[in-house]
Amino acid sequence: MSARSWLFVPGDSDRKLAKGAGSAADALIIDLEDSVAPANLPAARSRAAAFLAAQAGRAAPELWVRVNALESGLALPDLAAVVPAGPAGIVLPKAGSAADVVTLSNYLSALEVAAGRPEGGTKIMVVATETPAALFTLGSYAAAGPRLAGLTWGAEDLAASLGAAGNRLEGGGYEFTYQLARSLCLAGAASAGVAPIDTVFTDFRDLAGLEAEARAARRAGFVGKLAIHPDQADIINRAFTPDAAEIAHAERVIAAFAANPGAGVVGIDGKMIDMPHLKQAHRILAAGRRPA
Ligand code: COA
Ligand code: MG
Repeated sequence: MSARSWLFVPGDSDRKLAKGAGSAADALIIDLEDSVAPANLPAARSRAAAFLAAQAGRAAPELWVRVNALESGLALPDLAAVVPAGPAGIVLPKAGSAADVVTLSNYLSALEVAAGRPEGGTKIMVVATETPAALFTLGSYAAAGPRLAGLTWGAEDLAASLGAAGNRLEGGGYEFTYQLARSLCLAGAASAGVAPIDTVFTDFRDLAGLEAEARAARRAGFVGKLAIHPDQADIINRAFTPDAAEIAHAERVIAAFAANPGAGVVGIDGKMIDMPHLKQAHRILAAGRRPA
């Protein structure tokens, strides 16, 4: 089961690392990229490795590391610093296509074997929409190999590389280009059979706005959302967990089909319920079955 809330923690801040470990987030993404000033990167690498080692054996939160982009020349030293400490996974920013996941997988294999860790143990999530060219390769990820666990999307770097002044409309919703990126990420993840994770909500004091965006993301098919502040984790967890009414309805759908073996379609409360609804009901029960 994929994590619901993924909290970014700047890798150069011991205070935030400690705070993140005690937060409600299902997963932390220890950041070595955009939230770390270049001068602090060497220190952030060793802090991240020390934090991973100190947290080893704790079941929650899952610990991931966002490394720098492959083209930056910084990704290999980032990986060499943290992979021996056994993160659950690596978040790859500015990914171009599945080919980047294959390259990263090869790096990970070498580092895992060198460190005496099981080869293939480190998972990968990509930020799949941060460059204009990446918008044309979202269908490639089915060929990314078994390490790929999720796709997420980014609207900030995409706006910067498109030369946009902003990515939101005046009413607050995303401008069309970013809605397109979001939908392509969702379809790319579904076609690759991996978890679609919604992007950050940057206005971290607006918890009502976060909740609305997170609920809309779950309705659309996303199974989790990135976070930038510990206060966002609880809201995201709740938004991505089915409530009692949804679970009761899903149970009724499953029971109706069980009571009518061989039926392809049944009626519940005057509504047609067929195979897509049954599939959805099983998904809701699976999502509701996580330990609190
Ligand atoms: N992870 C862990 N702890 C965090 C945190 C985070 N992402 N964001 C804030 N905190 C901690 C603060 O250190 C503070 O702890 P303290 O009370 O012990 O000092 C507490 O939570 C409250 O923070 P607050 O004062 O509300 O916010 P801030 O002004 O200190 O920080 C940001 C605001 C945006 C700088 C901060 O949330 C942050 O660094 N976010 C992550 C940014 C990032 O990783 N970006 C890259 C991905 S887009
Ligand atoms: Mg970025």
